[in-house]
Order: sequence, then structure tokens, then C-alpha cells
Amino acid sequence: MPKQIDTILINIGQLLTMESSGPHAGKSMQDLHVIEDAVVGIHEQKIVFAEKKGAEADYEADEIIDCSGRLVTPGLVDPHTHLVFGGSREKEMNLKLQGISYLEILAQGGGILSTVKDTRAASEEELLQKGHLHLKRMLSYGTTTAEVKSGYGLDKDTELKQLRVAKQLHESQPIDLVSTFMGAHAIPPEDKDRPDEFLDRMLDLLPEIKAEELAAFADIFTETGVFTVSQSRRYLKKAAEAGFGLKIHADEIDPLGGAELAAELRAVSADHLVGASNEGIQQMAESGTIAVLLPGTTFYLGKHTYARARDMIDAGVRVSLATDFNPGSSPTENIQLIMSIAALHLRMTAEEIWHAVTVNAAYAIGKGDEAGQLKAGRSADLVIWQASNYMYIPYHYGVNHVHQVMKNGTIVVNREGGIHG
Ligand code: NIG
Ligand code: FE
Repeated sequence: MPKQIDTILINIGQLLTMESSGPHAGKSMQDLHVIEDAVVGIHEQKIVFAEKKGAEADYEADEIIDCSGRLVTPGLVDPHTHLVFGGSREKEMNLKLQGISYLEILAQGGGILSTVKDTRAASEEELLQKGHLHLKRMLSYGTTTAEVKSGYGLDKDTELKQLRVAKQLHESQPIDLVSTFMGAHAIPPEDKDRPDEFLDRMLDLLPEIKAEELAAFADIFTETGVFTVSQSRRYLKKAAEAGFGLKIHADEIDPLGGAELAAELRAVSADHLVGASNEGIQQMAESGTIAVLLPGTTFYLGKHTYARARDMIDAGVRVSLATDFNPGSSPTENIQLIMSIAALHLRMTAEEIWHAVTVNAAYAIGKGDEAGQLKAGRSADLVIWQASNYMYIPYHYGVNHVHQVMKNGTIVVNREGGIHG
């Protein structure tokens, strides 16, 4: 007697399961296992099998999805976003054209601080509605799990408001969200001359955030004119003591030693890393800290020097990729575009890129056991692409290649389209 299950995907041209017992380090990111002519079975929101054609022989399904030779992969994981914010910053584009830099705009009270003003002024309802719009777009590009940071409040009420909105968003739309408290994102104007007191006030919020389960991680912007390495060390140590996983916006613009700090504190991830030193890279390889690279931000800031992904991979670092979606330095929800920029500017291979946006990204947000892999027992989160092969996605850039997105066994995005490649 065949076993009855909910759904079987047949005629999968290429299947990437990304099966792995941990994040892929360094050169092993090149080892991509591709199953040609594959099938996937799904029952009660979970994967039953994901294998070569023939595995479906013992099963009957209520619904058959004919993939007609398409590529199928796990749902993508975007491990670094700032998606809950008020307002927008299109006016900064012209300032940039006049040669005013990102850090100069911030020093003049613009940049992050202008979004802080708008986020403080926005109601919870407004932030929720806006968050829904961004998440809907992220989902349409194939992202089924994402991280979201606070950090546009920089005061108690607004930081908590952002985190509560993120929690409601997690509960009310398909993308699973992991929250990070980033009260240490900038120094607000009212505390301009007392950064340490400001940090203490943000640290005071940790017990409440923990009690309400509003965030799993704490993050800080370690950068010239924002927080120093020693301020960051003090802040992150306290956050670790309070039970938070650690993340750092490290060496984004100036090389301050953020990568070394991340390794020293055994942070789960260090993000940006454009200016990371050789020692920092080596130490991250040894500590197992995942490098979350954000080449869309380098691109959007108009810089010509990108993070040294090749050196990181050669050194054995576990590399991941994210959009950094935010209203200032990376206004895009499109992780497929990031995959293309990673190929062109980080010189990552398609095989490395797929690890970076699935299994490694999931481990970068503490979700390695739940997301980023398509295997028996896992939630049925997957993407059916308008392409026949995995190399095609980073290659044909700037457009959306999603055919269908499945979250927990349900098709949540359906876009008509053929098959390329
Ligand atoms: O990751 N670097 C700091 N934070 C964000 C940008 C936030 C903003 O400009 O609003 C980033 O690039
Ligand atoms: Fe960021």
C-alpha cells in the first residue's frame, strides 16, 4: 500500500538540498551537491523526502506539482536586515552625488539619525504596515527566513516598539524572523557627549527584552564616530552575560579591529568586514564566527573596495551573504541581486554563493537546525525557480527568478513565467 502524503514535487531539473551538519567553512563552500532529476515529498508542512526520482514510488499524494525541469532550492535566508523603520531617505541620494559621505551625513544629524526621528514619530500600526510591505517583497524574491534589527529608536520606548513590531510581524506573515537588539546603532543627539551613559541605558533594557523574548541577539555599530572597540567590548560582554548571542557591525567603513573583537568574544557573526585585517580574518576562522558579507551596501555607498571574500574563504572562514536591507546604505529587499554582486565584486563562485544564502546564513542567526536545508524532517520551505540550474540565478542579474515560494508546505508566492538557462 502506498503511503498517502500531501504533496509531491516531480520533474525537478536540479535540486539543491544543502544538507550539512554545520556551516560550511572556507574551501568546503565549493562542494555543492546537486541532484539532477529529483523529487520532493511533503506531508503536514514537513519534508518527507528530497531525493533522486524514484523515491516517490512508495507514496501517493493529494497534490502533484510538476516542476517541468526547474531548479528547486531551500527557501533563502537573509541574515542581516533593518526592516522595521519609519520614513525613507531618497533625499540623501543627491547629497551623495555632491560628494558628501555616509559618515558626514550621519555627523550632520542625517542618515541613521533621520530614520531615528521618523521611527520615533511612527505609530506601531504604521511600522507594522510598512514592515508587511517589505516582507512581502522579500518573500517574493525567495526569502523565507530573515533577521531583523532594532536600532532606529535609541530610546527605551522606540527600541521596544521596534522589537514588538518585529515580533508581531514574525507571527502574522510567512517569513520566520529572528530579532536582534541594536540599541547601540548610533549615538542619539541628546546623548552626543555621553556615549557611555547612553550605552548603559541601552544595556538596562536587556532584562526586559529577555523577559518578553523580544530578541535573541545583541549587535553594535563599531565604527569611527560611532562606538569604539573598547566601548563595544564592554557592551557586548554585558549582553552575553544577559544571555544574548552576539553580532557586530565590524570594520564596515574604517578598519578598527571589529573582526578581532568578534573572534575574541566568540560572536556568532561579524557583519560587513570590508576593512577586516588579516589577523582578524584568521582569528574568525579559528573562532568559528560567521562572516556576514553585505556587498549591496558597498555597492550602494559607491565604494570600490569590497570585503575580501576570497581571502576569507582561503583562510577557512564560514562566509554568508545578506541584503542589509535598510533605508540608508542598502535599500533593497532583493537577495538575488546580492548574489549577483557577490559573484561580480566578491568574486565568489555560484557554489559558494548558494551556501552563503542558505545553510551558512541560517547558522549566522542561530537557525541552522531549522532553516537553510531541504531534508527529511525539516519544514517545507523551498523555492521553485524560473531557471533550470543554480548558476543561472546570480548570472542573470537585477530581476526576480522566483517561480513559486513554498513556506511550511503552502505555496505563498506564485509568479507565472517560463524556464531560463
Ligand atoms: O548596516 N552601518 C550601520 N547600519 C546600517 C545602515 C543603517 C542606515 O543607514 O540607516 C548598515 O549599513
Ligand atoms: Fe546593518
